Amino acid sequence: MSKAPSFLSIGHRGARGHEPENTLLAIDTGIGLGADMIEFDVQRCGEQLVVLHDPRLERTTNGAGRVSEVSFDYLRGLDAGKGQQIPTLSEVLALVAGRVCLNIELKSADGTAAAVAAVLRDALNDGWQTEQLLVSSFHLPELYEFKQLAPEIPIAVLVCGVPLDWAACATELGAQALNISAEFADPTLVRDAHARGLKVHAYTVNHPSEIAAMRALGLDGVFSDYPERVLAAR
Ligand code: G3P
Ligand code: MG
Repeated sequence: MSKAPSFLSIGHRGARGHEPENTLLAIDTGIGLGADMIEFDVQRCGEQLVVLHDPRLERTTNGAGRVSEVSFDYLRGLDAGKGQQIPTLSEVLALVAGRVCLNIELKSADGTAAAVAAVLRDALNDGWQTEQLLVSSFHLPELYEFKQLAPEIPIAVLVCGVPLDWAACATELGAQALNISAEFADPTLVRDAHARGLKVHAYTVNHPSEIAAMRALGLDGVFSDYPERVLAAR
């Protein structure tokens, strides 16, 4: 069996440096570039789970409005760039089909955890392995709910800043990883997380010298819009 890479290349929103973010095209491109893991953002639109970063549609599509307030049919009629539709979580799972690991970031709350847990339970029945999945969120109560519903699926706590009690929140939630902002990659935070047995990944790192700096700090991987640059650094 091949050894897991020591410095993970995580394609950010697929590979948003190359293709429209969070689309099937960007995700497939990230896989083609050799990413070990692909990150994408998930939120609820009615009863559906869609792959989109912003709470509004204007920045990344030709539509307008809040994702939580438009219909799924309207959202699916939009162009997310290069003629791509906004994908659903199930479509991403079908496209990737176990070729790489996935980091599914919960963007919305209020039922997102439950809906994602239900879809991932089906994915596990379809052959996905728990170690191929990592569910993360900045919204820690939503992440906590996910952990209660699907305790077998690894989770990562997202932080943007340096918490007063360092990586304690990740231990408290039973997380496997702490995903930090590269801006706040404090050596004490990284040390504390490692001492707790957590993996540490930083977002979003695109410049080769920054990727090298994160590696020198002992991180276990970085999210990059250009996942091939992370491969070049190891
Ligand atoms: O999950 C890492 C990173 O994607 C978190 O920030 O805003 O790009 O979703 P954001
Ligand atoms: Mg994200």
